[in-house]
Amino acid sequence: MEKYFEFLSASLAEEIASKIETPVYVYDEQTLRHSIERILSFPHAYGFLARYAMKANSNQFILKLFDSMGLHFDASSGYEAQRAISAGISPDKIQITAQEYPHNIKELFKSGVLFNATSCHQLEQFGRDFPGSEISVRINPGIGSGHNNRTNVGGLSSSFGIWYEWIKDVQKIAETHKLRITKIHTHIGSGGDVGVWERVAGLSLEAVKHFPLVHTLNLGGGFKVARTPGEQTTDIQRVGESVKKAFLSFAEKDGRKLNLEIEPGTYLVAESGILLASVMDKVSTGKGGYTFLKLDTGMNDLTRTTLYGSLHPIKLYPKNRKTSHEESVVIVGHCCESGDIFTPLPGDPEGIEPIKLPEAQIGDLLAFGAAGAYCSSMSLANYNSFPRIPEVLIRSNGKLTLVRKRETIDSMISLECDENL
Ligand SMILES: Cc1ncc(COP(=O)(O)O)c(C=O)c1O
Repeated sequence: MEKYFEFLSASLAEEIASKIETPVYVYDEQTLRHSIERILSFPHAYGFLARYAMKANSNQFILKLFDSMGLHFDASSGYEAQRAISAGISPDKIQITAQEYPHNIKELFKSGVLFNATSCHQLEQFGRDFPGSEISVRINPGIGSGHNNRTNVGGLSSSFGIWYEWIKDVQKIAETHKLRITKIHTHIGSGGDVGVWERVAGLSLEAVKHFPLVHTLNLGGGFKVARTPGEQTTDIQRVGESVKKAFLSFAEKDGRKLNLEIEPGTYLVAESGILLASVMDKVSTGKGGYTFLKLDTGMNDLTRTTLYGSLHPIKLYPKNRKTSHEESVVIVGHCCESGDIFTPLPGDPEGIEPIKLPEAQIGDLLAFGAAGAYCSSMSLANYNSFPRIPEVLIRSNGKLTLVRKRETIDSMISLECDENL
């Protein structure tokens, strides 16, 4: 897991902490560029497009970089689409796949933003708003892949997409409103297993057969980045080859040479981010108890651990000393909340499992690796009134750029008011 810290040497970590203070997210441009290059080499039979699932990290710098390298965008709300447009992304490069029918769909659709209906009701709403238009439809192909019901985005326990058995209803709604369904979308978060991708591609192609106007199949994201020693990063080339085979064989039988879209979030940004924090206290509960390191960050900045029990690689940067002695520690955040723990028992977010680290002292820096995806963007803004934290970018030329400022108390409370309604 050391590789996730390669772009942040001890001296650079010290420099960032002294210039901007901790906690701070640190991103590495070079690592971002390498991830994009790998995604753009995804094997495919005919046309190919990669959309970045911007919910993973929506900082403007990242959106602009990805745009400049040829990616399009997946937005998960009308607000997210607006945010991408504000960053300079052309509306026709944005497709919305959202749980909530966007409040601003009229303005967005008019400007060129694409829409992917994720329920029959959404399809109906879109049909009433834009009869005769082109649309994409998200299908739940019947299988899932997440490790529990909360991370499952396909199969019986998922509300995402239209259940594959309701295709007749989809056709009926489309007919009523003269909608042209030209794209099918599935996203079950297929992970790194080639077999799962093959099955999902097969089931999705089955769905395509019911829609003669479809020219594009979007297989979503879900490519894995190993964040713990037991996990494996997806082999993009192997997955791509199996999907390519499925598209070739579909074309032979059906005659349609389908375009492929994929929609990675995690794979593009996870490795390029680090959450850099400081150890601000160290306490113990005596014999039979634990040693706790208390940080100046917490579940408000990095929520995935509390929410899903997701673990991140951790590195201690001992200040001005060499240390060979290790100790077992429980790492906790600064929120007054018992769930604010970064070292839960795997599979039991409420349990505690100490980890081994070099002996820590108050004032040391401590970093969470592979924290570029669903960390800053998924933060619980302002819990305990902690401000949202800054983001620093290490440019390809080694220079440091601040790409988000630390929130101030004034901006935190600026929307509070006392107005008659
Ligand atoms: C519709 C859609 N596409 C793509 C993604 C990206 O998934 P991942 O970050 O696992 O690649 C998500 C994530 O939730 C999603 O909901």
